[in-house]
Amino acid sequence: MDYENIIFEVKDSIAFVTINRPEKLNALNERTVNELDDVFVNISRDDEINVVILTGSGEKAFVAGADIAELNKLTLLQGREFAEKGQAVFSKIEKLNKPVIAAVNGYALGGGCELALACHIRLASEHAVFGQPEVNLGIIPGYGGTQRLARLINSGRALEYILTGDYIKAAEAEKIGLVNHVYPAEELMTKAIEMAKKINSKAQIAVRMATKAVVSCNELSESEGLHLEASLFAICCGSEDFKEGTQAFLEKRKPNFKNR
Ligand code: COA
Repeated sequence: MDYENIIFEVKDSIAFVTINRPEKLNALNERTVNELDDVFVNISRDDEINVVILTGSGEKAFVAGADIAELNKLTLLQGREFAEKGQAVFSKIEKLNKPVIAAVNGYALGGGCELALACHIRLASEHAVFGQPEVNLGIIPGYGGTQRLARLINSGRALEYILTGDYIKAAEAEKIGLVNHVYPAEELMTKAIEMAKKINSKAQIAVRMATKAVVSCNELSESEGLHLEASLFAICCGSEDFKEGTQAFLEKRKPNFKNR
């Protein structure tokens, strides 16, 4: 698929996905959602990629939401399809077999906040602004926001933001655990790349199993989650990298991981 609204690059096993509609503050129209769907399928199949950084083009916005011009035309039945399509794509990101870091470089509103929530780790610039302002449009979050925001920051806080439409500035987002770290705008990508490189330097089977285990806590009971954790732990124990990592420690040297 040719991409019109996203930029996709891979460098040193790190994939960069940039939503690129800056004139519309990177709002997610149907085409952009389809392109995201396609690119994340390709990323999941590409064994050369170990970590993904997702960001928005320009200095103002990560993603300012679903495209309101398209939303405006939805009928009741189309509304359901619209939400289910977005939910499926965002769940694909959350369940990706490798970690995704959101570098939130500005407005992350509505579907933009939900997109950041579907990523595994969120880093933000000082001028990033989060929010679920759908109530101002007569709708509710439909790309997973009611579920993921409530899980991440608790249901009372999530409802406050969803019912008032109030924006969440970066410092507040860090305080309530919505983002991991906040950086000056000019440092955001450097810090995201630094984190991606550090993850890339580890044993990738362990990175993938850990990501899968932690993401599964959203859907599994504690006993099911522990059962899965034990199975994924066992898979790591069967890897060459496990032998190498433990042996290197005992020999007081750096491990040389081969991702096998
Ligand atoms: N859908 C479609 N277009 C959008 C958009 C969205 N979610 N968000 C911004 N745009 C467009 C604007 O219509 C404008 O287009 P135009 O130049 O053709 O008129 C352009 O992006 C720039 O936005 P503008 O509103 O002029 O920028 P601003 O700096 O004054 O305000 C925001 C920035 C983010 C506060 C404002 O754009 C906004 O409230 N956007 C909608 C946020 C929202 O409700 N998202 C949830 C949707 S479910």
